[in-house]
Parts: sequence; structure tokens; C-alpha cells
Amino acid sequence: MKPRITPAGRHATGGSPHARISGVGGYRPHRVVDNAEVCERIDSSDAWIRERTGIVTRRWAGPHETLTEMGTAAAGKALAAAGITADALDCVIVATFTHLWQTPAAATAIAHRLGARHAAAFDLSAGCAGFVHALSLAADTVRARGGHVLVIGAERMTDLLDVEDRSTAMIFGDGAGAVVVSPSTTQGIGPVVWGADGGQWDAVTQTAPWDAVRADPGMRWPALTQKGQQVFRWAVYEVSKAGREAVAAAGLTPGDLDAFIPHQANVRIIDGMAKRLELPDSTVIARDIVTTGNTSGASIPLAMEAVMSTEDVGSGDLALLLGFGAGLSYAATVVELP
Ligand code: UT7
Repeated sequence: MKPRITPAGRHATGGSPHARISGVGGYRPHRVVDNAEVCERIDSSDAWIRERTGIVTRRWAGPHETLTEMGTAAAGKALAAAGITADALDCVIVATFTHLWQTPAAATAIAHRLGARHAAAFDLSAGCAGFVHALSLAADTVRARGGHVLVIGAERMTDLLDVEDRSTAMIFGDGAGAVVVSPSTTQGIGPVVWGADGGQWDAVTQTAPWDAVRADPGMRWPALTQKGQQVFRWAVYEVSKAGREAVAAAGLTPGDLDAFIPHQANVRIIDGMAKRLELPDSTVIARDIVTTGNTSGASIPLAMEAVMSTEDVGSGDLALLLGFGAGLSYAATVVELP
């Protein structure tokens, strides 16, 4: 008779009924860059940047604050908060698009640095929506396999930033945030609502692909470029709908949310989304962008850490996470905070 696949050993027992976030941690580079410094290279002003983006300062990484260093530091804090060691990890996922080595994945180096000897390690590219994509994969992996999964969002945006480009220079910052996703007896991570509109693939992209640099070594370093107004409108009007769907998919209403932790792209986008979601005044809204800038894949876990350390929310409270960006791609889910 033809043999059939029959999971054996620890694989025979299957995974966990549910998953939850058990710890969060962040790393912010040392150097604080104010709007006046950014305006040395672009025709703008502190007043314009504050009014149109909400950003007052951002962090830019120094030479030793590599993507791997920042990701490892954030992960170490998340592991400590979860009360586990890296040895217990089954998988490490890094959401990033600024890891400048095409291969291998940043996750392999970070897993090695942490001592995650039994973990799979890979990167995931979904721009500023990458963290929520990775969180969703992590939750499903925990449900399927048991074990703990580390999810890191890490970006050195300044490596892809043209500091003379008025549409991006004042927005982006560097940093890393991480969460541990663990087995649970109760549902701590709701269904994900996600999607992508490749028809708008050029709304957030690079000025040129890497093979253009090979063809013309004298060309300007490819930098991040975006159609700001187009992304702004899509985020407020379309992505908000995904947020509402994720709340409904979790069996909740907006009034049940204790916190709203969206990708930190622009304070006006955050406020526009909160309005369209009809969040009550009591909902705590993450505005970490004011002092951290837009750190792309790192922004949601960094904002989660900030909200939990400074605001009136705590362990077990419900938060809507809403990521959106290059692709254009988006992902939303409701979680119980660790
Ligand atoms: O995280 C990844 C996804 N990205 C996003 O979510 C970005 C979403 N978009 C945005 O955050 C905003 O569109 C920006 C912050 C990028 C731009 O703000 P805006 O309010 O959409 O500005 P705008 O492009 O509509 O330009 C308004 C005016 C223009 O001047 P006029 O034509 O009205 O005289 C621009 O020339 O502001 C001018 N402007 C600036 N002025 C000073 C554009 N950029 C700047 C600047 N400083 N940096």
C-alpha cells in the first residue's frame, strides 16, 4: 500500500487552539533629528511639517545602529517581556524592505544573534503593512505548530531616503519593534483582513531598481519615492474600511476598542481613519509618529510599546492594528495587548 504522510513525534500533537501577543519591545536610534535639521536640505519649514504630517522629531540611525542591531535589540526586549528565551522560538519573521542584502534574510542573522537555535528565520516584504502581515502569519503558525514566534519590524529608512526630496525627507525615521506570539487558551489575535491593489504599485516605490545601478554605476542611489496625496486618500477612504471589517470579523464593534494603533504615516491620516472608524473619545489613539516619524514596518510595534508605556491602556485591552503602504497593500487585525 502507498505510504501516507503521518506526522510523528511532536508534530503528531498539532498546535495550539489560540495565539496571543505575550511581549512587546522597541529600539529607537539615539540621534534625534528635528524639523529644522531636515529643512537644511529641503525647501520646507518646521511649521509646515508639523501641520501637514504632525511630526516634530524623528530618529535617524548612526553607522553602528544597523538593521540587524536594531532588530536584535527590540527582539531582546520583547522576549524579556514575554518571559521566554530565544531557545524557545520556533520561528523568527522580520518585516522589512530596507535590508540592503538581497540575501540572506535579516531574520537569519537576528535569530543567530539572539541564540534562537531551533527557529526558522525569514523576511517578509509588504512595505509599511509588513508587520501586520507577519503577525497574522505568526498567529497561524502558532495555531498550527504550537511554539513561540518572534515578529520583528525593522527599518533603516535613511538608507533609502533622498534627504533632498521634499515628498519623503521629512517623514521617515529609523527603528525596530518586536512582539512575541505565543500559544494561548483564549483568542488573543483576531482574523486578519488584508489585501493589495497592485494597480497602484508605483504609488510608493524606488526611483529605480537595483539592475539600473548595475547598468549605470554613476546614477543616483535609488531612493524611496511616493505619490503622497494618492496614498493619503487611499489610506483614509479605503484602508479604513478594512479596519472596520477586522473589528467586525473579531465579533466586536468600534466602541469595544481600547486603543487604535495604525501605521504611523501621518497624524492627519491617523485622525481621518479614527473619524471614519467612528471611534469613541475614550479610545486611545497611538500618535508615536510625533516623535518617531514614519518607521514603515517598525511603526506599529513601536507605537504599541509607546502606547502601553504612556497611555491609559494595559494588558488584555483590545487594540485595532492597521498597516498600509507600498503595494499598495494593507492588513488589519484586532489584538489583545500583552
Ligand atoms: O508610509 C508609507 C505610505 N505613505 C504615506 O502614507 C504618505 C501619505 N501622504 C502624506 O503623508 C502627505 O501626502 C504628504 C505629507 C507626503 C504631503 O502632504 P500633503 O498635504 O498631501 O501635501 P501636497 O502634496 O498636497 O502639497 C500641498 C502643498 C503644495 O504647494 P501648493 O501647490 O499648494 O502651493 C506643495 O508644493 O505643499 C507643498 N509641499 C511642501 N511644502 C513644504 C509639498 N511638500 C512640502 C514640504 N514642505 N515638504
